[in-house]
Amino acid sequence: MKKINIGLLGCGTVGTGVAKILIEKKDLISSRVGAELNLKYVADLDAARDRGIRFNEGILIKDPFKVVDDPETDIILEMIGGENIAKDLILRAIGNKKQIVTANKALLASHGNEIFRAAAAGGVDVAYEASVGGCMPIIKTLRESLAGNQVKSMVGILNGTCNYILSKITDDGSTFEAALSEAQAKGYAEADPTLDVEGFDTAHKLAILTSIAYCMEINFRDIYIEGISRITPLDIEFAGQFGYRIKLLAISKFRGNSVEARVHPTMIPFENILSNVNGSLNAITVSGDAAGDILLSGRGAGMMPTASAVISDTVDLARNIISGSVGRIPLLSCQTQNISRIPVMPVDEISTHYYFRFAALDRPRVLSKISGILGNHGISLKSVHQKGRKTNGSVPLVMLSHLCREENVKKALDEISRLDVVSTKPALIRIEDDNQED
Ligand code: HSE
Repeated sequence: MKKINIGLLGCGTVGTGVAKILIEKKDLISSRVGAELNLKYVADLDAARDRGIRFNEGILIKDPFKVVDDPETDIILEMIGGENIAKDLILRAIGNKKQIVTANKALLASHGNEIFRAAAAGGVDVAYEASVGGCMPIIKTLRESLAGNQVKSMVGILNGTCNYILSKITDDGSTFEAALSEAQAKGYAEADPTLDVEGFDTAHKLAILTSIAYCMEINFRDIYIEGISRITPLDIEFAGQFGYRIKLLAISKFRGNSVEARVHPTMIPFENILSNVNGSLNAITVSGDAAGDILLSGRGAGMMPTASAVISDTVDLARNIISGSVGRIPLLSCQTQNISRIPVMPVDEISTHYYFRFAALDRPRVLSKISGILGNHGISLKSVHQKGRKTNGSVPLVMLSHLCREENVKKALDEISRLDVVSTKPALIRIEDDNQED
């Protein structure tokens, strides 16, 4: 049986899961590929840590460059993460004509265009299913299953850590800090959890998906990003009273000459299927012009679900090597020469529904002052609610809007926050509710 040599770079949480599957399921995988997938190297600076795996002599080494420079290595699995050394290793491996698997969304979001150009020029594949949504096969779905569609929109929960935190606060009354610590202990969070909670990780993933879905260059820089750190239990409670749950959503819509691409906490109705996707689960709905709506869901973070996607890519690349079909599937979804630059719409130009919460003095004419300013900016209100009890002289005043333009909302809130009857910065949460007509 032909032997395909695998070099694994990085044996942290995901790398360990990948090594486990390659060793423990070696026979099953060989029978599926028609070749032996031989884990030739595992490169990691920490050789002493107990990973629950017994590597044969000489497999665990410290120098990742030895792995990418070895003429016998066929496929490189980059599980180091981060942007610097991972990029150097991948580009060097491409130069050495190795096939690449990576789970590195931050790297692809920032340097994917360069990496894919190098791979296309070098005639090698770069597979990255594990970079988005853990085990959920969204990249394969977009690149292969929906090849006959113009994707119209994608709405997804793409960060397991944030979804875990929001679910724990909403359902169990946990604090943000306790829920984040649990997510870290379970191996969901990034080494720097700011990437999770401030929305950057979700935006990295959305940048990759948007590029595949609309045949455009990856454009991470122009995505609007807002994380979950300013979501309060009070807003979660009020959302529930209006029939909504708050989720950190990645939203992308095709607008012909431009695309919407944004990440922010969003209120969605209980009956929206995404509102029942909880814990570390991810999910995405993709709307294609021929297929209609597709829903994918699965564990979006953690050792084994992410490793599952890495192995899927490894098997694909091994099959390509055996059948002489490297490069059969384009790196994004179009052939490299057909990838265009499509601008991402500035968030000020989007229109959606809003939830506003003001901490306002309980005095005559306060309500009319606030609603007057909103009205002056063309913001029409669907409902107004004075909620809960007075704290420090202020009461929460909650308003839900009809469809309005973000730019106008920002101007109005800016003006309102300068009123002396409003004590703290107003809270704003966007609403995605297909049942609302305008
Ligand atoms: N930190 C990421 C998450 C890991 O929580 O979703 C998977 O990309």
